[in-house]
Amino acid sequence: MENNDKKHGNYLRFFAMIATSMVAMFFLMYLNSYQIIGHFWFSETRLFMTMIMGGAMIIIMLLYMLQMYKDKNKNIITLAFGVLLIGAAVWLVRSQITVSDVDYMEGMIPHHSIAILTSDRSQIKDVRVRELADEIIKAQRREIMEMQWLIDDIRKNGVATTLEEKERRPVPKFEGSTEKETTPTAGIPAGTKKSNQTGDLKFNPPKPEEAPENIRQAVMRGHAILTNTKKELPDYVGNELNCHNCHFEAGLTKGGKNGGISYVGVAAKYPKYRNRQHNSVDLAVRVDNCFMRSLNGKPLPPESDDMIAIITYFHWISKDIPIYADIPWLGLKPLESNHKPDKASGQELYAQLCAECHGHNGQGGIQHQTKTTQANNHQSKNGHDENGPPLWGDNSFTDGAGMSKLENLASFAYYNMPRHNPVLTREQALDVAAYVTAQPRPKFEKDDKPW
Ligand code: HEC
Ligand code: HEC
Repeated sequence: MENNDKKHGNYLRFFAMIATSMVAMFFLMYLNSYQIIGHFWFSETRLFMTMIMGGAMIIIMLLYMLQMYKDKNKNIITLAFGVLLIGAAVWLVRSQITVSDVDYMEGMIPHHSIAILTSDRSQIKDVRVRELADEIIKAQRREIMEMQWLIDDIRKNGVATTLEEKERRPVPKFEGSTEKETTPTAGIPAGTKKSNQTGDLKFNPPKPEEAPENIRQAVMRGHAILTNTKKELPDYVGNELNCHNCHFEAGLTKGGKNGGISYVGVAAKYPKYRNRQHNSVDLAVRVDNCFMRSLNGKPLPPESDDMIAIITYFHWISKDIPIYADIPWLGLKPLESNHKPDKASGQELYAQLCAECHGHNGQGGIQHQTKTTQANNHQSKNGHDENGPPLWGDNSFTDGAGMSKLENLASFAYYNMPRHNPVLTREQALDVAAYVTAQPRPKFEKDDKPW
């Protein structure tokens, strides 16, 4: 054997080299996918391509190394094997005869991934080409999600061969973005009403007074509490703020520029997992959070008529919003800016733009009046005092309130302040928020409570 190897060349070694190269080539082909791990699906087509390359290597390398491999018969068999490998793989890849539905999709995912990679990373300068490339990225992402969903469905339930089965197991509608793939759970199965689909949620909350008779009284009570919290529930409010001061128009707004923080759809958003509590939070707990942290008050008992009124109001104005939909107008949007907030410039801005309503010491305009009776005379048409409420000091929100965080206050101010005329740039909003959040305010000390 030893002698034979020396004389005619080691054929086993030759084939080991070819096999190793083929395995390496198969995997190296995935390097141009966008997500090397996430989009690594076994692709039969790639296997066939590897076989073609292996066949070609056998022929080319053997012919170059004929002086090392001298056994004529073995050479003929080896070359024939190379030709056969190429022939078989070409037939398999071109006929796709072994490729089932799932194999097909598994092959297409890495393929789509390459399109994402090149569309994303190419040095595109023309805006029209950029738009086209972004469209391609979105389409590939959407199709990858559809294929991943279909692969799972077919593995679990088999192929759907009839139209009836197709109706029963529709592919959810996925949205591809240029940023990332939305998770399959964010997709809402096709066939549900069009307005229910994520992405085109309609903002069309019903009016409180239009609530059906059996809940109207509760809805109206909820509306009154959320508008004049301190007046309606003096025992539960510990400062000079009302829910309305941050959630304008009893939250019946689209948020954004000048709408404050919306409530429309909150009943579809909760219960929800929130980090602060490390557990799931229902709407009553969320409301009590604002009672204690924003109004520096006491939690309203969940089973009380007033809490039920607030929750009923939230449910009514969340009518037609699908449960757990992605509701674009809820919450404060973080401001995109690399600016480092500057307290000193914030102080100047405060004096110029905020003090006239919120007072030079952040105490709010309300202190110029002797509270309730006189304040009523200063209320505008919508029942609201146009003087600014306290921004810091004993009568403002606590240091445990969402608003006490620089990024929240900056976003709120950018979108809403000065009231009715929000003119701040993102950078100014960050500066003024740095100044306001650095001022003294009540300490929030109730954190040992279950919420
Ligand atoms: C024209 C008067 C006016 C000006 C100027 C004004 N605000 Fe306000 N601000 C209000 C009113 C009124 C509310 C409460 C809105 C409501 O209840 O409908 C409010 C609410 C707020 C709130 C939430 C409630 C609270 O007191 O914490 C913050 C925060 C706030 N303003 C910050 C600012 C900042 C920062 C500026 C300066 C950039 C500013 N405001 C300028 C009138 C004003
Ligand atoms: C000082 C401002 C302020 C006041 C006053 C205030 N809140 Fe809030 N509220 C916030 C902030 C900030 C958030 C968090 C917004 C976000 O998620 O980005 C919030 C969130 C909420 C949410 C959840 C909204 C969502 O999209 O998840 C509810 C419900 C709520 N508040 C109810 C109330 C009620 C009821 C009152 C009166 C008892 C009240 N708030 C008073 C600032 C305030």
